[in-house]
Amino acid sequence: MTVGAGNPRTSAEGGHDVVIDVDNLRMIYPAPKPGALPTVAVDGVSFQVGRGEIFGFLGPNGAGKTTTISILTTLLQPTAGHARVEGIDVGTRPNDVRRKLGLVFQRSTADEELTGRENMAIQAGLYGHSGTSVDRRVTELLVQMDLGSVGDRLVKTYSGGMRRRLELAVGMVHDPKLLFLDEPTLGLDPQGRAGFWRYIRTLRGSEGVTVFMTTHYLDEADQLCDRIAVIDRGKIVATGTPKELKDGIGGDTLEVAVAPGAADLSPLLTPMPGVKAVSRREDSYRVKCTNGEQLIPKVVLAAEQAGISVRGVTVAKPTLDEVFLELTGHAYREEGESPKEDRSGGNGGGSDQGRRP
Ligand SMILES: Nc1ncnc2c1ncn2[C@@H]1O[C@H](COP(=O)(O)OP(=O)(O)O)[C@@H](O)[C@H]1O
Ligand SMILES: [Mg+2]
Repeated sequence: MTVGAGNPRTSAEGGHDVVIDVDNLRMIYPAPKPGALPTVAVDGVSFQVGRGEIFGFLGPNGAGKTTTISILTTLLQPTAGHARVEGIDVGTRPNDVRRKLGLVFQRSTADEELTGRENMAIQAGLYGHSGTSVDRRVTELLVQMDLGSVGDRLVKTYSGGMRRRLELAVGMVHDPKLLFLDEPTLGLDPQGRAGFWRYIRTLRGSEGVTVFMTTHYLDEADQLCDRIAVIDRGKIVATGTPKELKDGIGGDTLEVAVAPGAADLSPLLTPMPGVKAVSRREDSYRVKCTNGEQLIPKVVLAAEQAGISVRGVTVAKPTLDEVFLELTGHAYREEGESPKEDRSGGNGGGSDQGRRP
């Protein structure tokens, strides 16, 4: 695998300036009681995020995502290593860093007994902003987040999707150019998730924000992120665009179905250009290849010439699931684990705390 884990030149090569610069970060949580083992939550992580990127920090539960984002947003001090946000060290100048960023955690932080608008005004006040310019900003963000008509309703009357959007609006109220999102769509149904990401794209477009987000939804990261770092058990196992990561594991899979009892097609498939491996199960063949679409007519023709009747050919593109399996040697979700979909409406849904030794 040649995709550079945390290659420090990745962003610079792309011509962006670096907004987040992480160098060999480590976080060890002390043992909870004598005799227990400490937890190495983040184990030497390095990466950079360029301005204007939507950067996905992707990994299963317990991988170290929240710990990393907590360090980057100054909520936690790392055990070792450095992180800079806009060139400012998070460890030595936390207050300066905090002013630069907006933060949306998976847990709802809004006051239920206040309106959306009031929650936003309070947050603006915490950053020292008040007066008519804040009123304007709040109204603008409410409209942008499709909360214009409910901004004066109490938060306790909001749906799950509205709450997540309000979190986003609250996180943006002091006009940060860098937004940290920790599993912001946890608890939303697929439609709510898709909607939420539309707003993120809007924010990037209209406000030019850089987005650092964690998620354990692989499909979500695939569709949304410009670049992804895949983290597993505290270590980054790959960094790249979703396409680079998927191409890196060797491309497409062709499924070729032939007539029952036909002659063996394998000797014809194996020598074809772009073919990496062929496996057979009864009357169907799986062909790992770099060039799925171009291969189809060649396969059909070769089979025809050999008198083998082809019943169907499909191309499957690799998914990030396969990338993860290939990189880590284990499946993204443990056997029997189902995606945690919490529909209680915004309050995050408890246990994302996975492996504890
Ligand atoms: N406050 C804490 N004290 C001790 N261990 C923790 C604490 N927070 C997280 N951990 C452990 O650190 C590891 C990484 O956790 P976390 O960063 O929350 O992962 P993720 O956000 O990817 O699910 C897990 O094994 C988790 O149990
Ligand atoms: Mg987490």
